[in-house]
Amino acid sequence: MACIWDTRTLHFGLLFGILLSFSVTTNGLKLWPMPKLVNYGSETLYWSTNMQLRTDGSNYADSSGILKEAFERMVNLIEADHIIEAKFANSSVLAGVNVVVHSPDDTLNFGIDESYTLNVPAKGSPLYAKIEANTIFGALHALETFSQLCYFNFTSKVVELHAAPWTIYDLPRFPYRGLLIDTSRHYLPVPVIKSVIDSMTYSKLNVLHWHIVDDQSFPIEIPSYPKLWDGAYSYTERYTINDAIDIVKYAERKGVNVLAEIDVPGHTLSWGVGYSSLWPSKSCREPLDVSNEFSFKVIDGILSDFSKVFKFKFVHLGGDEVNTSCWTTTPRIKEWLNNHHMNESDGYRYFVLRAQQIALSHGYDIINWEETFNNFGDKLSPRTVVHNWLGGGVAQKVVADGLRCIVSNQDKWYLDHLDATWEGFYTNEPLTNITNPAQQKLVLGGEVCMWGEHIDTSDIQQTIWPRAAAAAERLWTPFDKLAKDLKDVISRLAHFRCLLNQRGVQAAPLIGNGREAPSDPGSCYKQ
Ligand SMILES: *[C@@H]1O[C@H](CO)[C@@H](O)[C@H](O)[C@H]1NC(C)=O
Ligand SMILES: *[C@@H]1O[C@H](CO)[C@@H](O)[C@H](O)[C@H]1NC(C)=O
Ligand SMILES: *[C@@H]1O[C@H](CO)[C@@H](O)[C@H](O)[C@H]1NC(C)=O
Ligand SMILES: *[C@@H]1O[C@H](CO)[C@@H](O)[C@H](O)[C@H]1NC(C)=O
Repeated sequence: MACIWDTRTLHFGLLFGILLSFSVTTNGLKLWPMPKLVNYGSETLYWSTNMQLRTDGSNYADSSGILKEAFERMVNLIEADHIIEAKFANSSVLAGVNVVVHSPDDTLNFGIDESYTLNVPAKGSPLYAKIEANTIFGALHALETFSQLCYFNFTSKVVELHAAPWTIYDLPRFPYRGLLIDTSRHYLPVPVIKSVIDSMTYSKLNVLHWHIVDDQSFPIEIPSYPKLWDGAYSYTERYTINDAIDIVKYAERKGVNVLAEIDVPGHTLSWGVGYSSLWPSKSCREPLDVSNEFSFKVIDGILSDFSKVFKFKFVHLGGDEVNTSCWTTTPRIKEWLNNHHMNESDGYRYFVLRAQQIALSHGYDIINWEETFNNFGDKLSPRTVVHNWLGGGVAQKVVADGLRCIVSNQDKWYLDHLDATWEGFYTNEPLTNITNPAQQKLVLGGEVCMWGEHIDTSDIQQTIWPRAAAAAERLWTPFDKLAKDLKDVISRLAHFRCLLNQRGVQAAPLIGNGREAPSDPGSCYKQ
């Protein structure tokens, strides 16, 4: 076992060494994810020590300070805590960035315009980079791209922008580019969730899917049913409703939507800790009792509270892995099913469809895991998005039936599968076998899933990165610009991994499986 592993590591190590030795010191195109259109020259510009943000010609007033904050964040990321010396080799000094945003509205939601142009001229006095975007969120992506053009020079000790002039036009291929976190299997403190949100923006992911509760724990406060979080692991492993508001606001200011999930009727054992009548019986404790009106009242209360906190267009209602045996082995429920002329599969369908109606009544569109489609796809609300997770192939059927779909097939895009490689993350194509353009539009995008059984604060970031970044390029970059040969992408992804490390994100080495320690001493760029 150890022997096989060593051989393979050695093989990858050699491959890396060869590919990377030529690329680390040259400029090349090191952007991640690759923009739609990029042109560049060969001039070097030098950063002013006092970079200015201007908004000449913008309709966006930035009364909430989103832009100002993003600009300062960008400057800090680029300077990376180095002391900048204000001596410039020549007059090619970049004075700042002029950001023009056309829409005054800074409400984030699904499907907003995320496109931008970024121009960095090689000459001018004063010399300003120019960003133009329809929404503030396109401008945030542009600032991220801009940050990846700039380097600290260890000889002159100034920040440089190489290969000017730059002309970049960019927009995402898919509107939904997600990452799932799971705070039921292990609690994640609020600052950890915020650091995950920060790191998502570096590769332009835009949906944090928050799988908040499950069998194991119910960490969030629900004002309408204040005993639900009695199902938390401990007194401290909890989120107040204000924490949730804070997380959503924090994410939105960075262009990240938060998708809340309550997974019903299965995966709900922890709900009954506070309200035991949600359990079929004391000894058989999930799925939620289909025969009890209280189950639906509680879902209504949760979604009513959610609608004041989670403003994303969608709420996720789960619906996966429902084992109905507790319904048939509990006489009271069995009798109820019989009286209503239902067997347990009918009961499952009844439950999911009723939960959908409740979500619709609170103004949400619904996302459900794919079993709901596989069992009763023709009964789902037309406002359903089917979330793939089993093997590939369902997306094709979902869109043929006119429903929308998100792709997360577990063999390729489950981050908790440590044997799922970055190569597999990169090559997983959401539109596989879907050729009809109208059907292609129904694939909203995809999501990588960081299930929490075997991760916690100690290792979440290194399990997410860099593999999530490989999927992020698949979801952002135009199909014809994606690497066909993975050899063309390794050095750029290695470079991005090192950039994440420089920004304090604990991204793991590319070589080997997910979350492996570096195998030997060596440069970040070769591991
Ligand atoms: C850093 O600056 C020095 C002096 O201006 C220059 O000769 C060198 O090429 C720069 N290094 C890089 C990696 O750009
Ligand atoms: C369903 O749940 C019952 C009772 O908890 C259990 O005995 C059974 O193994 C489960 N079935 C599956 C397929 O997991
Ligand atoms: C449940 O009943 C439906 C008809 O209402 C039937 O199509 C289905 O096969 C039944 N399922 C089971 C598991 O008995
Ligand atoms: C795509 O179609 C091919 C040929 O029918 C099939 O072998 C493959 O499994 C399909 N892939 C997916 C993800 O549906």
